[in-house]
Amino acid sequence: MANLSDEISRRRTFAIISHPDAGKTTLTEKLLLYGGAIHIAGAVKSNKIKKTATSDWMEIEKQRGISVATSVMGFNYGDYKINILDTPGHQDFAEDTYRTLTAVDSVIIVVDVAKGVEQQTRKLMEVCRMRNTPVIIFVNKLDREGRDPFEILDELETELKIGVRPLSWPINIGAKFKGVYNIYEHGLDLFTPNKQRVTERVEIDDINDPRIDENVGEKDAAKLREDLELLEGVYPEFEVDEYLKGRLAPVFFGSALNTFGVKELLDCFVKIAPSPRPVTAEERSIDPHEEQFSGFVFKIHANMDPNHRSCIAFVKVCSGEFQRNASYKHIRSGKFMRFAAPTAFMAQKKNIVDEAYPGDIVGIPDTGNFKIGDTLTQGEELHFKGLPSFSPEMFKYIENTDPMKSKQLEKGIQQLMDEGVAQLFVNQFNGRKIIGTVGQLQFEVIQYRLLHEYAAQCRWEPVSLYKACWIESDDDEALAAFKKRKHQFMAVDRDGRDVFLADSNYVLQMAQNDFPKIRFHFSSEYH
Ligand code: G4P
Repeated sequence: MANLSDEISRRRTFAIISHPDAGKTTLTEKLLLYGGAIHIAGAVKSNKIKKTATSDWMEIEKQRGISVATSVMGFNYGDYKINILDTPGHQDFAEDTYRTLTAVDSVIIVVDVAKGVEQQTRKLMEVCRMRNTPVIIFVNKLDREGRDPFEILDELETELKIGVRPLSWPINIGAKFKGVYNIYEHGLDLFTPNKQRVTERVEIDDINDPRIDENVGEKDAAKLREDLELLEGVYPEFEVDEYLKGRLAPVFFGSALNTFGVKELLDCFVKIAPSPRPVTAEERSIDPHEEQFSGFVFKIHANMDPNHRSCIAFVKVCSGEFQRNASYKHIRSGKFMRFAAPTAFMAQKKNIVDEAYPGDIVGIPDTGNFKIGDTLTQGEELHFKGLPSFSPEMFKYIENTDPMKSKQLEKGIQQLMDEGVAQLFVNQFNGRKIIGTVGQLQFEVIQYRLLHEYAAQCRWEPVSLYKACWIESDDDEALAAFKKRKHQFMAVDRDGRDVFLADSNYVLQMAQNDFPKIRFHFSSEYH
């Protein structure tokens, strides 16, 4: 048996996040090339739904197919075992991304040098900040005209609300881009605009080395020295500890498409990024080194084959060693289960695995037993925290259009909600079901999947809502009074918790003012 502690310390489980088009797919692919997981560029398909195709069923199906294949990409790099967790590019699937971020130990953020910090990057960073996830930033597309790097650093700092520390520095941008000075390893990396060539490294003694002038010309060398002096004056020394606490983000510059600066990023990443960290359950904190296995389901993926309603539940191993055919307790049902065919994701292949370690993701074939957030242990009652549902932003009534198929519809809705596709609220006043999502696309996905996987037909009806928020109070009377006053706007979520459906921001604010004893929550995790 492998040594648990060695297995933990060599694992790096992370996600790459970016605003669409910044270069996440390209960077992922280049990392896989270095890990030998793929051999030619172009092997990783983009999993994004193009902006123009929001109503294209084929695109949705394609996305689902591709995302199973790329959900987890595991590979070895030197002594390290790397697991990249894929996140959907389309913003309507942001909730999936939030959940994936609960299963990683660090993230790499890709930013386009011409566009700087964009809206989705900002949102995702908020989730990282909530969990103090360490982040490394890769400023991409230096081969294109872009913004001044000092300006980009300022923007990263203010927009992402995190300290930054460049560990490489570009020499010009766009057509005149000559390469980067690698502050982390003290070397000069020359750029050759050729997709197949990797970085050419010039060994130098220090920043005053004349070899810099020889390679990039005196003028650019002088500018580089000037920039670096300024940098050293403005930015603090890089402290790994600050990075690990999620307070300081090292910044690299490069061009993913040209495989430039990617190996340097990866080499630094494996050295400084955290191995699996302790995970918090409601009961206690669980250290990955504990002998007993524990893990949680952060994603459920329905099978593409509508005739077999099977899914894959993605389990993140949090502690101990996961073993095939061992008996594990599914805490929500209280049942012990054995998994005969768990899969691991290595080098883009799904293989049955006999064991897995903290940081690894195991795919468990399932026929509807699992729900997002479920915990598995060797017997201990644990409930992992950190898989919040966020208040949805779009709402529709869901109506059955085929009375003969109401059972199928019920089941379909139930299972799609278990997968975390959207959230269901039942209005207590009229008994109608409301589906809440973060994006328009989900309504289309739900309708399509209900029909194709459950042979159930539904229709959407508009409901004018601004926000659904969870409410609670220590004062039972106050809670009862609130519910009475707002009875038309009260609903319950799938766990039977009270949800207030506010039809405008004004109404919500008035309710908050008028009922000071009620707490309003905008994420389901408020214990
Ligand atoms: P995403 O996953 O973050 O959405 O971005 P993706 O990697 O798909 O990259 C978006 C576009 O940016 C792609 O071009 C890609 O080739 C390009 N790109 C990525 N890195 C660089 C870089 O370092 N320099 C330059 N110049 N371009 C880069 P596309 O035309 O949209 O797609 P494709 O047809 O090339 O696949």
